[in-house]
Amino acid sequence: MVGGDRASLATFLVLALLMSPLEAGKILVLHPMYAASHVLTLRALAKGLVARGHEVTVLRWKDTHNYPDANHPGIKEHVLAINNTDGTIPRLTVEERASFEMPQELMWRKGTSWTALPVDTFLTVGAFCRSLLEREQLREELRREKFDIAIVDILYNECSLALAHDLGLPSIGYWAFTFAGGEPQYTTAFSPPSSVPLILSHCPEVMSFWERLWNHFVAFSSHVVMQTQFAVTSYQIRHYCRRAVAG
Ligand SMILES: *[C@@H]1O[C@H](CO)[C@@H](O)[C@H](O)[C@H]1NC(C)=O
Repeated sequence: MVGGDRASLATFLVLALLMSPLEAGKILVLHPMYAASHVLTLRALAKGLVARGHEVTVLRWKDTHNYPDANHPGIKEHVLAINNTDGTIPRLTVEERASFEMPQELMWRKGTSWTALPVDTFLTVGAFCRSLLEREQLREELRREKFDIAIVDILYNECSLALAHDLGLPSIGYWAFTFAGGEPQYTTAFSPPSSVPLILSHCPEVMSFWERLWNHFVAFSSHVVMQTQFAVTSYQIRHYCRRAVAG
């Protein structure tokens, strides 16, 4: 995936943070419904944390990669799946334990074009949030574990942030994608469109005035996409985490 260096930097920062306390911690890792390679990078991080005496629980989702279980002492994994028996959720396989199917062909052909944005994926994200947040039993089980901290892969994963908040956990955001546009626009990360080109703008590293203007327009459009995403996810979060929202 994009951002290997940044992923290692994030890994380093998380490790540095978690190595400093003297006592062992209990860490919850929350993946989005489709995390591809992130499952493996965060697994490497989890193994590092276990080697330093921490306990790690991972919540990940069944996908078309069918990664084997971590099968590592100190790492507990829950592999969840969205129920799509009736086939009403787009972009998922039609089965009781469904997997997200990445539109690979479209991505390779025009993955950096606006026209490749699969609009119906908002419905899939809504279904993912519902599936995560409606599991009262799982939530109670996680609550009883009394974790110290959550590491959340924040790629379209607002609902996992809400879950961590509902469990009363501070979260560390993990990001392993291009660092302009998307969720990072809503973090304190500094990536102004005047100097950081968005992947969809196709602008070079050093931009002319007109390229900067175009890049700003693309950043604005990215905000529109993100606001739609937040509307979809907030709807589910308000519905399933009333306590968290009230608090
Ligand atoms: C999955 O959905 C179908 C249809 O809505 C339902 O009949 C079935 O009981 C569900 N399965 C589980 C495990 O919840």
